[in-house]
Amino acid sequence: MGQGCVRRFSAPTLPMLLALILLFLHLFAGNAVAWRPWPNHNVNATDLQFGGSKKYEGSSEFVHLRYHMGPVLTENITVNIIWYGTWQRAQKKIIREFINSISSRDAKRPSVAGWWRTVTFYTDQTGANISRSLHLAAEKSDRFYSHGKKLTRLSIQSVIKSAVTAKTKPLPINPKSGIYLLLTSDDVYVQDFCGQVCGFHYFTFPSIVGYTLPYAWVGNSAKLCPGMCAYPFAVPDYIPGLKPLKSPNGDAGIDGMISVIGHEIAELATNPLVNAWYAGTDPVFPVEIADLCEGIYGTGGGGSYTGQLLDGEDGATYNMNGIRRRFLVQWLWSHVLSYCTGPNALDQ
Ligand SMILES: *[C@@H]1O[C@H](CO)[C@@H](O)[C@H](O)[C@H]1NC(C)=O
Ligand SMILES: *[C@@H]1O[C@H](CO)[C@@H](O)[C@H](O)[C@H]1NC(C)=O
Ligand SMILES: *[C@@H]1O[C@H](CO)[C@@H](O)[C@H](O)[C@H]1NC(C)=O
Repeated sequence: MGQGCVRRFSAPTLPMLLALILLFLHLFAGNAVAWRPWPNHNVNATDLQFGGSKKYEGSSEFVHLRYHMGPVLTENITVNIIWYGTWQRAQKKIIREFINSISSRDAKRPSVAGWWRTVTFYTDQTGANISRSLHLAAEKSDRFYSHGKKLTRLSIQSVIKSAVTAKTKPLPINPKSGIYLLLTSDDVYVQDFCGQVCGFHYFTFPSIVGYTLPYAWVGNSAKLCPGMCAYPFAVPDYIPGLKPLKSPNGDAGIDGMISVIGHEIAELATNPLVNAWYAGTDPVFPVEIADLCEGIYGTGGGGSYTGQLLDGEDGATYNMNGIRRRFLVQWLWSHVLSYCTGPNALDQ
């Protein structure tokens, strides 16, 4: 989800409002997109177990994903992480291994690399594909909460500035093919967290950071709102009778973050400056390739139903393999197929 998504709540103009209402009607008429158990959704456990929707894997009918001529990440992508707050070694390891799995050929199918394939089919105006290669470049710890335990969209940029201008081991500056992930620990609240978003991406402003760098923020929701942002490994209290699924890496907060991190990285690659691949007519409210498939993890997914997932012998639920680990990651919109897809699709 782009940062712009949330600006709609601050004094939208009438035409904009109408456009938004129309867009929402379209999206939810498709009834297979952007589902999370936000408190205002009216669902119950029966819906979730049997699937609330007959429309499978997104509806192409109303989705007009278009290319707006801006750059995409066609060169080897480098990921730089800022660990904000208190992180356990084991938590960092799960996230690093997910990122390292994106370019790995070593995992068995269905694999994280197979999931990334959908992204590599997107191109720029010269016809260059998004890179298959994505690597962890550098990491920076901000373990003493340099900007406090409540961050705003603007103070996030100051955190990034501190990391790229630090006196010792600053993060490398790579505006062309670098992406910057700010990951916040479970005791940090970020503006709009839980109420509207579990993560978002945008780019930094030269006036604040000195450079235009595509970045994303994703928070560990374990303490604040796991039922929303770590769903289906945690469930909201207001859906009676629903049991959480067992998470593949034994940490519901982190396993929930993985899908959001995947969501944001896929959108950063296809829409790094929010002027490349998105649906909708308003760049302030872009609907991007992962927004279109939020809540869909397998064949048949849509509405409040996750789709068909894989069950491990240990009882954990996942939909793809990485190096040494399994993950549950939402599907992505394929502009070639005109529907949401993933490596565990049954028709592949
Ligand atoms: C839950 O949803 C099912 C199927 O849509 C419906 O039959 C049932 O009445 C609902 N239960 C509650 C408590 O709302
Ligand atoms: C991108 O990565 C590949 C393999 O890791 C390497 O062979 C290639 O030289 C890199 N390209 C650039 C432009 O750095
Ligand atoms: C680039 O993307 C196109 C679809 O847009 C696809 O047909 C082609 O196979 C891709 N090339 C590579 C090298 O992945």
